[in-house]
Amino acid sequence: MRVSDRISRVEYAIRDVMLHAREYEKTGKEIMYLNIGDPVAFDFKTPEHIKGALADALAKDNDYYTDSEGWTELRKSIVRKEKERKGLDLAPEDVLVTNGVSEGLDMVMGSIVEDGDQVLLPGPYYPPYSSYAKFYGGSISEFAIYDDGTPNLDDIRKKISSNSKAICIINPNNPTGEVFSYKSLKSIVDIAAENNLYVICDEIYDEIVFDENFNGIGNMAKDAPVILLNGFSKTYLMTGLRCGYVCMNNNSRQLDPLRQNIFKLARVRIASNFPVQIAANAALNGPQDHLPIMVQKLKSRRDLVYKRLNEIEGLECTKPKGAFYMFPWIDLKNKWKNDLEFVIELLNSTGVLTVHGSGFGKMGTGHFRIVYLPREEILNKSMDKIERFVKDKS
Ligand SMILES: Cc1ncc(COP(=O)(O)O)c(C=O)c1O
Repeated sequence: MRVSDRISRVEYAIRDVMLHAREYEKTGKEIMYLNIGDPVAFDFKTPEHIKGALADALAKDNDYYTDSEGWTELRKSIVRKEKERKGLDLAPEDVLVTNGVSEGLDMVMGSIVEDGDQVLLPGPYYPPYSSYAKFYGGSISEFAIYDDGTPNLDDIRKKISSNSKAICIINPNNPTGEVFSYKSLKSIVDIAAENNLYVICDEIYDEIVFDENFNGIGNMAKDAPVILLNGFSKTYLMTGLRCGYVCMNNNSRQLDPLRQNIFKLARVRIASNFPVQIAANAALNGPQDHLPIMVQKLKSRRDLVYKRLNEIEGLECTKPKGAFYMFPWIDLKNKWKNDLEFVIELLNSTGVLTVHGSGFGKMGTGHFRIVYLPREEILNKSMDKIERFVKDKS
């Protein structure tokens, strides 16, 4: 039977490499999983008070359908975080709670993208941005980012056309760990406002920034049509619990049609998980002391991997400023056809599982992505294996 053309446009490289890993697993040899950005799968665990709130919600039978838009108490807490702490003007009615940022992105793209529209993405980008844009009939165009993490504004201007609908920002970025400065963010918001484009900004790694202060998009949004995506997976270590949210700038009249319509999609899927929303509310209002511990641990893992990778002849990478990814460039020479071949060969000869850079868009070509969430001994062991693999190929 036929399936829709639109489903064939959907790709997700991060999970696709798992198919090769499954084959490798059958050999019974050890795999080092440096491919999926799930801190809870490593030694970062959901804080006890969040798990307690979830268990308590169930014990008290708070597991019925709640409001489609999200539980009011949680929407108010999200306003406190995103407005009072990060500067985006919001009321609870501007917030939609979703089953993860992924669902929020799906609903936003589904609400704004039409056939023939173009969506601008940072190059390289987190794959669901392109999958959803294409799924809803759009196309994507990547804008370049310099090695120091500054977006190339001329490139953005050049790529805007009469079909452009939105500029997406992922800050800090996945897969590069780049963090945009206040000035860069302001320039992008200004360009979007001049060209009547939505700004979709994903701040899921907002608390995982190492060497500088994080600037939220809210600080420069003014009355621009800024849509903020955020969630609990990474900073509150709730990946498997699935909770995120969409915020629509309260000052933007251009967002009123979206504000009036997106909640219809929320009603179609009834509601997001109520006990998890109670746990997410506890996450925002409870102790935050896991955060500096997590950031410090990640920072030393970043430093280790950054040093080790740059010591390998034939690999080069810039220092990520946030999140937990590194995106080294591979000197492919005549040794590997492309980054995918590098990644598959690396897996098959060493058991180190990473993701090919071209899975993150054209501008990711010739790179591979490493997740530096594992413990230092695993990271060191993986770096030894990568080093030997690259050397032996010379
Ligand atoms: C930039 C970015 N946005 C969203 C997600 C997924 O978020 P969620 O677990 O809330 O669906 C990820 C996960 O890796 C991500 O890197």
